[in-house]
Amino acid sequence: MPQHQGALAPEHFAQVKEEPAQRAGDTEQNAQAPRLRAIEDTVRKLQNTFGQAPEVAVILGSGWAAAAAQVQDAQRIAYAELPAFQATSVEGHVSALTVGRIGNQRVAMLGGRKHTYETGDCSGMAGALRSLHNWGVKLLLQTNAAGSLRPHMPPGSLMLITDHINAPQHSPLVGEPGNARFVDMGAAYDPELLAHTRQLALAQQVALHEGTYLWALGPQFETPAEIRMFAAWGADAVGMSTVPETILARHAGMRVLGLSLMTNMGAGLSTESLTHAATLQQAQASGGYAAQFLADLISSLADVPSLHG
Ligand code: HPA
Repeated sequence: MPQHQGALAPEHFAQVKEEPAQRAGDTEQNAQAPRLRAIEDTVRKLQNTFGQAPEVAVILGSGWAAAAAQVQDAQRIAYAELPAFQATSVEGHVSALTVGRIGNQRVAMLGGRKHTYETGDCSGMAGALRSLHNWGVKLLLQTNAAGSLRPHMPPGSLMLITDHINAPQHSPLVGEPGNARFVDMGAAYDPELLAHTRQLALAQQVALHEGTYLWALGPQFETPAEIRMFAAWGADAVGMSTVPETILARHAGMRVLGLSLMTNMGAGLSTESLTHAATLQQAQASGGYAAQFLADLISSLADVPSLHG
């Protein structure tokens, strides 16, 4: 039979059937098959376009776009050409994947991420991240813009994400089959790579704060009362992304690291009113410095043996 036209190739079913005792039934299985096929097609396209996978993939959040200019020998592909990737409608994000190297480290940079507030679905990045993992990427390095909850961390500050709070308590793994969905989040942000990043900041005399990132669904900004509550919970920064992608990456088996750029104080902590435009403006003002640290960090990852070989 030619190419299983209209029907599904047997190998897709084989993958979903791995744990028959865990299956919820045919509905779940049927929902998985087209997604698995899109991931397989995407991985093939990535292999054909770029060859072997880089060890590191980076999601460029608002204010971090300048980092893409640091990629040497860069080749680009639009998300539209990658069936498992979803384009984003957010201003300041580019829906393209750039692959090349910074120093001796090969890297794939995702110009944009699908946010939960665009659709209500927090698994918008699932196809992209699973494709990158299946291609061979080992580390997901996330960047974002965030509101600061701490007076000692003003706009322009950089924060290394050491932990997160999933405030909406939504999961991109709802509906996933098998026991792998019960992901251990005890050390979601990779301890070895956190130590590596701290050392780099110290060596370069870059002021790098550390803290807990809280995911707020958005797209509206928070109220002052919400910000007071989040700070009391132990959050240090608030933003509308990153947490679903960390969960997806850990589920897939990738290591995760994250950097937040403070673009404003949380609502009620300063007299300024919050707008996306003001956030982008502040991100642009301090984004060059952040992008340079990101580029140096990526380059330094070439010296981390556990990411290579
Ligand atoms: N709240 C939520 N998301 C954000 C903020 C904020 O104050 N700043 C940048 N992204």
